[in-house]
Amino acid sequence: MNDGGEHPLDLRGRSYLVTGAASGIGRATAVRLSRLGARLICSDLEVPGLEETLGGLRGSGHIARPFDLRNVDAVASWLGEACSSFGQLNGFVHAAGVPCVCPVKGLGLDRLREVILVNAESGFALAKAFVNPRTFAGSQGSIVFISSVMSLVGSAASAGYAMSKGALNSLTRALALEYANRKIRVNAVAPGFVKTPMFDKTSAGWDDEQRRRVEALHALGFGEPEDIANAAAFLLADESRWITGTVMVVDGGYSAQ
Ligand SMILES: NC(=O)c1ccc[n+]([C@@H]2O[C@H](COP(=O)([O-])OP(=O)(O)OC[C@H]3O[C@@H](n4cnc5c(N)ncnc54)[C@H](O)[C@@H]3O)[C@@H](O)[C@H]2O)c1
Repeated sequence: MNDGGEHPLDLRGRSYLVTGAASGIGRATAVRLSRLGARLICSDLEVPGLEETLGGLRGSGHIARPFDLRNVDAVASWLGEACSSFGQLNGFVHAAGVPCVCPVKGLGLDRLREVILVNAESGFALAKAFVNPRTFAGSQGSIVFISSVMSLVGSAASAGYAMSKGALNSLTRALALEYANRKIRVNAVAPGFVKTPMFDKTSAGWDDEQRRRVEALHALGFGEPEDIANAAAFLLADESRWITGTVMVVDGGYSAQ
């Protein structure tokens, strides 16, 4: 992979919020966007991880703004305050999320609601707050939700997670039409299994055979966080200017079979 300076995508002069930036896909996205010249607000509820991410970014002017997205009612005021010191944004990548591998029998409504709250409802709250003039810079707007291939194909023990990510896909399509006249594009990326701390948690109980079986579902093997970060960067950049309302599958072939 080349090193940012020679990258065909150019985000110099652009500013973005990245949620879930303390780890995995969010962190890799923040690093990629900074290498493309963007200035970032990095957010997460994990403060040490957030500081570590900030230390790995290229360029200057990035800030960390820890926030627990379960606090959806406070998203608008939190984002407004962050932008009042940082400046307006061109868009955001909502990568924060929680896993939920649980058969329906064991999935209580409280847990289901929390998964939907973090993965989907907070995305709605961010998108709603984003159009405020003190937040949106008014041009080259682009929102990227990190969905999941589980929103597109069935898998046992994934009902709650699949529902939350399916809601993001629907939000993506509806908002794409609603926000088009504001010059804001809205897209999602649906990853297959990507090697992140969330993946480590999900796969902790697998034996070697099960790991091999799941990996074999991906024609190209498991993904790396950078594979998703590159897709998100593309969807923010001008090179994707005619793309809105799409759920871009980045899954190493998982859903091709
Ligand atoms: N890793 C995979 O295989 C995979 C596959 C498909 C989709 N995804 C999605 O990609 C996104 C990133 O996942 P990842 O694999 O990098 O996981 P990760 O656990 O490494 O990172 C997720 C981040 O979200 C943060 N977060 C969780 N709850 C939060 C809250 N209430 N408020 C603020 N931040 C919160 C966590 O602290 C963490 O830093 C998630 O939305 C996940 O559902 C991951």
